[in-house]
Amino acid sequence: MVPDADPIAGWLHQGTSDAREVADRYDEWAQSYDDDLTSWSYQAPSVVAETVVTKHPAAGSALDVGCGTGLVGRALRARGFAGQLVGLDISHASLEVAQQHGAYDALLHVDLQQQLTVEDDSVDVVVCVGVMTYLPEVETVWRELARVGRPGGLVVATQREDLWHSRHCQAVVDRLRDEGVWTPLEITGPAPYLPEGYGGTPAVGCYYLTALVS
Ligand SMILES: C[S@@+](CC[C@H](N)C(=O)[O-])C[C@H]1O[C@@H](n2cnc3c(N)ncnc32)[C@H](O)[C@@H]1O
Repeated sequence: MVPDADPIAGWLHQGTSDAREVADRYDEWAQSYDDDLTSWSYQAPSVVAETVVTKHPAAGSALDVGCGTGLVGRALRARGFAGQLVGLDISHASLEVAQQHGAYDALLHVDLQQQLTVEDDSVDVVVCVGVMTYLPEVETVWRELARVGRPGGLVVATQREDLWHSRHCQAVVDRLRDEGVWTPLEITGPAPYLPEGYGGTPAVGCYYLTALVS
């Protein structure tokens, strides 16, 4: 359990599906988010960037769903991804930080609890890192990621270890496979995510899902 005494840790752990509350929290946190996550040895951006460039080296476009301040975009660029990169998030302040770093070709303010205004089959790689905590409708979101992904492209998503189980994520993966939406390529986990917890809390693990869009 996360101690009640630490409000950031408690809020992060509990999460919320209230988009307005998410936006407010991440707006407040935007300026110090990168430093905090770095000090907590946040693993996911580099893990996902490595997955993208090794499993889809020819990818010419990527959509970073819930990009926040752009840690994943910067990791992708550092790992050599040179394609078109678009980030989506609900936090204006986080998008401004992402903009300052210059990794993205476009950054858009969106609520991921609405259908994406992105065309079907239009992106080579769709990544969604550290975001599913706030999106309890896992199946709806993952269908949407696959919808915008180009056939033969990738969806790479993380899900916190405890939520992978409580939200029955393996069953969702299997259902989408059975319906021909995607082919799971790799599910790694529980794997390191925040190995130092949210700064002093126990370590937090996650599952990394990589699926090939059908
Ligand atoms: C833990 S941060 C992860 C940011 C980035 N992907 C990373 O790995 O550093 C979660 C992000 O999800 C975004 N988010 C959560 N719910 C959202 C929603 N309904 N619509 C858009 N963005 C959302 C937050 O604004 C925040 O930037």
